[in-house]
Amino acid sequence: MCCVTMSAGLRPLLLAASTNPTLRRELTHRRWPRDLALRFVAGETLEDGLSAARGLAAQGKAVTLDYLGESVTQEHEARRAAEVVLATLSRLSGEGLPAGVSVKPTQMGLGLPGDPDGRLCRELLRTIAAEAERRGAHVTLDMEDSTVTEQTVALVEDLIAEGHRNVGCAVQSYLRRTRADVARLSAVGASLRLCKGTYDEPSELAYTCAVEVDASFDDCAAALLADGTFPRIATHDHRLIARVKGHAARLGVSPRDFEFQMLYGVRTPLQDALLRDGHRLRVYVPFGDQWYPYFMRRLAERPANLLFFLRALAGSGRSGRA
Ligand code: FDA
Repeated sequence: MCCVTMSAGLRPLLLAASTNPTLRRELTHRRWPRDLALRFVAGETLEDGLSAARGLAAQGKAVTLDYLGESVTQEHEARRAAEVVLATLSRLSGEGLPAGVSVKPTQMGLGLPGDPDGRLCRELLRTIAAEAERRGAHVTLDMEDSTVTEQTVALVEDLIAEGHRNVGCAVQSYLRRTRADVARLSAVGASLRLCKGTYDEPSELAYTCAVEVDASFDDCAAALLADGTFPRIATHDHRLIARVKGHAARLGVSPRDFEFQMLYGVRTPLQDALLRDGHRLRVYVPFGDQWYPYFMRRLAERPANLLFFLRALAGSGRSGRA
């Protein structure tokens, strides 16, 4: 059974829009898209991210802070982003907040022309991993599109082999390769974040039907709970969450030995319910002014978000430019 839905039809369009430089320029200079993005983004500054982290910590929620940015084209942009991540780690530990960081490899220079081996990215990630370790924090490499999947998996293997055991990455259940990646990375002790996956991928590489993506998620989650290191289950899908709880109970895995993760601003009542049930819950909190691609991917995930956006667009004549 395959799934042709409104979101399936709009998704590729919105994902294409997320990487369109003209649209990005147009929309990021206007106030109303920025105001809408704030539903999913803590704000444009580190202070905004920290403020959200404090509020969530007060509710018993752990956090992973993500300084927004990806696909940098200059070395200095990657170095600047790494500095912000280091400052984030320092502030989080200074305040004793239960938080780690999420980092995109292409934000740290992976894929920069003239650096085919990703030397800059490795150097910056090593520095971040060492600083995070010193401060007792975990680093998750976000998983981007399939052009960098193998490099990201290899980065985690290499960093762990160098002794940075506090580094893991996200894995995407929509990719056909992911069940094998789960085994490969679990073998080196990487703590993985399992998500469905958010990019537009070809059917040779990815399941395109929701039923298959869910079955793969279920399979990977069961494997992580059985053999993985502190699994991080990232979904807002209550059916999958119920299945994960079932696997944990069957395998005798305590709710303290894995965590659920959700995105800032998404399904807060479900987050609260998991906490009340005694589960660990971590919220992914993005901050920074490079919010456009992140926001467009959130729109792509849910048609209702798009309607919200279009309504604001219809009324934007009144708001004008920021
Ligand atoms: P699904 O999309 O089926 O959503 C289930 C329900 O949750 C929806 O019916 C809706 O109610 C709600 N919901 C989901 N998304 C929503 C949204 N944007 N707005 C409002 N409601 C929404 N992807 C990736 O490729 N690489 C990565 O590194 C990460 N990292 C990551 C971290 C964390 C903590 C999470 C939760 C997710 C990611 N993702 C990701 C994104 C992930 O791959 C996926 O695109 C989204 O989580 C949506 O999938 P769900 O599993 O939530 O299911």
